[in-house]
Amino acid sequence: MHILVTGGAGYIGSHVVKQLIEDTNNSITILDNLSTGHEATIDTLKEIFAENKRGKRSFNFIHANLADFVNVDEIFAQNKFDALIHFAASIVVPESVENPLKYYMNNTVNTTNIINMCVKHSIAKMIFSSTAAVYGDAKEIPVKETTPKDPINPYGWSKLMSEQVITDACTAHDNFDAVILRYFNVAGADSLNRIGQSFPNATHLIKVAAQTALGTREKMALFGEDYETKDGTCERDYIHVDDLASAHLKALDYLDKDDKKSPDIFNVGYGHGFSVAEVIKTMKEISGVDFKVDKEPRRVGDPAILISDNSKTKKVLGWTPKFDDIKLICQTALAWEKTV
Ligand code: UFG
Repeated sequence: MHILVTGGAGYIGSHVVKQLIEDTNNSITILDNLSTGHEATIDTLKEIFAENKRGKRSFNFIHANLADFVNVDEIFAQNKFDALIHFAASIVVPESVENPLKYYMNNTVNTTNIINMCVKHSIAKMIFSSTAAVYGDAKEIPVKETTPKDPINPYGWSKLMSEQVITDACTAHDNFDAVILRYFNVAGADSLNRIGQSFPNATHLIKVAAQTALGTREKMALFGEDYETKDGTCERDYIHVDDLASAHLKALDYLDKDDKKSPDIFNVGYGHGFSVAEVIKTMKEISGVDFKVDKEPRRVGDPAILISDNSKTKKVLGWTPKFDDIKLICQTALAWEKTV
């Protein structure tokens, strides 16, 4: 099978590509505009591919912009893709509040166009990167796939609107099937430290804590200690990026099944969480650095608790996480941060 991976030079996309190279026999084409992805990541993936040569399969990188619809159409016409894994998107929540149109263009509009390309060029399978942000202030914890969706920022809306486009396209077109994966809090890095999170100006807790432990940042903020949680700080479901990646391989297998539902939607998280204070404590312990943490007021738009119910993902996709260990997640994030 020949799989097109948009955003494959980015953090999550590159970990999925790594697993496609190491654990499958598929050919892979990455399409990325390198706006947040990196050429060095592509070079590393090429090296991993060279170490895993199997048969005549290929590995290609196309430097292109999804907003260039004419070029994307040509790329689809020139290649015979069998499946699409669509990561390319803008993902910074506060930025989406300041610049919503960027999010609706990059996420909703570009996703609509690429679905249109799949239908036009007969690509029957799609896996879509969605987010727990579609649930907003979740109406129940743990969050099920059926929990009401009520985004509280344009990022979440841009993904939920994309989910609707996918749903309608699957209903209208018999030869187009999709799996939507809703990611919880993704963190950590490849255990061999070859790839990781290189996104500049990171805002995510574990990355920020790793940078502070290493002195890249002088101090970090802890946003809010007055939530109704076990210790007053927000709780999140942190999932190691390689466990998230393996859910995509399971989703590809699922799309081959005759009894699949399309589109089908799955939460990808561990089903339990840690507080911000616990994560900071863990990073301090494993780094051996008692870095400075400023206690600040709540950050706008933060729900108190976001924990997945992953029972459907385990049962229907047969997904078994292997790295459900907050220390390991922090250790791999810290090891990667030393290389950035
Ligand atoms: N936090 C801090 N200090 C920091 C950074 C974060 O205290 O420097 C806190 C936040 O206030 C929040 C928690 O750590 O309470 C987690 O924040 P992140 O920014 O790491 O992640 P979010 O939960 O805000 O969002 C992430 C993704 C979303 C996704 C969500 C799913 O960015 O796209 O996880 O749970 F929807």
